[in-house]
Amino acid sequence: MKKNFLLIEHGGLRKKFTLEKLQEKGLNIFLATTDLPLWLKGLIPKINVIKTDTYHSTKLLSDVITFSEARNIKFDALGTFYEHTVTQAADLASALKLIGLNPGAARRSSSNKLLMRRTCRDNSIPTPKLTVISNYDKKQLLQAVKKIGTPCVIKPIFGAESYGTIKIEDGFNIDDILDEIKLTTAQDQKETFKNFTGNFLVEEYLPGKVVSVDGIVQNLKIFIAGMVEFIMGPEPRFAQEANFIPPTGLSGKEINDCILMAKRIIKALEFDNCGFHCELRLTPNGPVLLEIAARLPGGPLQPGYLNAYGIDLTSLLIDVWLGKKIKVDRSKKLYIMQKAFFPRKSGKLTQLRGINSLKKDPGVWEFAKIAKIGDEIKEHGTPLYYYAIKDLSKRSLLEKSKKIEENIQFLIE
Ligand SMILES: Nc1ncnc2c1ncn2[C@@H]1O[C@H](COP(=O)(O)OP(=O)(O)O)[C@@H](O)[C@H]1O
Ligand SMILES: [Mg+2]
Repeated sequence: MKKNFLLIEHGGLRKKFTLEKLQEKGLNIFLATTDLPLWLKGLIPKINVIKTDTYHSTKLLSDVITFSEARNIKFDALGTFYEHTVTQAADLASALKLIGLNPGAARRSSSNKLLMRRTCRDNSIPTPKLTVISNYDKKQLLQAVKKIGTPCVIKPIFGAESYGTIKIEDGFNIDDILDEIKLTTAQDQKETFKNFTGNFLVEEYLPGKVVSVDGIVQNLKIFIAGMVEFIMGPEPRFAQEANFIPPTGLSGKEINDCILMAKRIIKALEFDNCGFHCELRLTPNGPVLLEIAARLPGGPLQPGYLNAYGIDLTSLLIDVWLGKKIKVDRSKKLYIMQKAFFPRKSGKLTQLRGINSLKKDPGVWEFAKIAKIGDEIKEHGTPLYYYAIKDLSKRSLLEKSKKIEENIQFLIE
């Protein structure tokens, strides 16, 4: 008999591979979602779709259990690959007595960056000095910056994709900072941000390389898939523009320290039966936690690990949800680079050529045109295109990347 699997949110077209993986496993797929985009229609029969508010645990449970009763369907497993539904999926799994992350641990993750930091602090894990502010209050912000000192970083307690996160330098203009965080948070109408409360962290700025340690926890056993190095865009913003698997220029000791730190954090937060994506800054005093999410790494990093090491994190996590014992083995070792190309120029895009020729390049395993002719490009925050490549060494990877960018022509006026 086919097992009934309930996926909570799809996470958009770029996560299509997660649905394909569920299909490959011969599961009867159900989807709880706020919206049903066109590309999904061929993948999931309409009658298996539960239209509900996946961002609200109580409504989600009510609609799922009603569907289950009306259709006489018992779910064997459930899960999500999407940051904004990690806590709701944990609540649902707990209520339905299915395998999943415990709801308290879900809430101690990146969905609440303050509770995450406090739990670390209580477990003697090095934590940057921090304070909090609410309601975009100018006086509070001034006091907070005075208390923490500069440089520091302001970011929403509940956030993602570096949304509303900026560095505050010495000699800063408080009104500019308030305008910027308001612009990127308060005015955002995205469904996923309706749980945003207006509470911000102001914390010490951590210098150093940005890396992540990624993997899966099953029955308290921590499986490490590997590490990623993130190339950050220009400060004071923090866009993750490119990444490498594996990170380069790290000593064996540094890699070990990062892995040990990730394990300590996972134990302190009590993560179990979940994926994890632990972002660290490699400071002169060792690795310090930026944030840890209780889900697999997002964007293109799951296919990244598959291309680099043959580790299929997506498949392994589904097995965890299904109660199958997992094993993580590396079957190959390639170098991976993924990059969103930011032009560092503002204006109207009048030409963008050469991207489709990437189709013929055997080292390119994914690419996408992001901007369209006529788009208003902003100096920060608008990539033109994206590509992902693999090669036998970091050096050949960089050469390949240079060639690709030289062959793509664009004009911004
Ligand atoms: N205290 C900090 N010091 C230095 N950089 C930081 C700090 N906090 C966040 N950042 C930068 O901002 C990015 C986004 O912050 P993060 O806490 O990861 O939130 P998000 O949920 O938006 O990804 C990080 O990748 C990191 O580069
Ligand atoms: Mg982050």
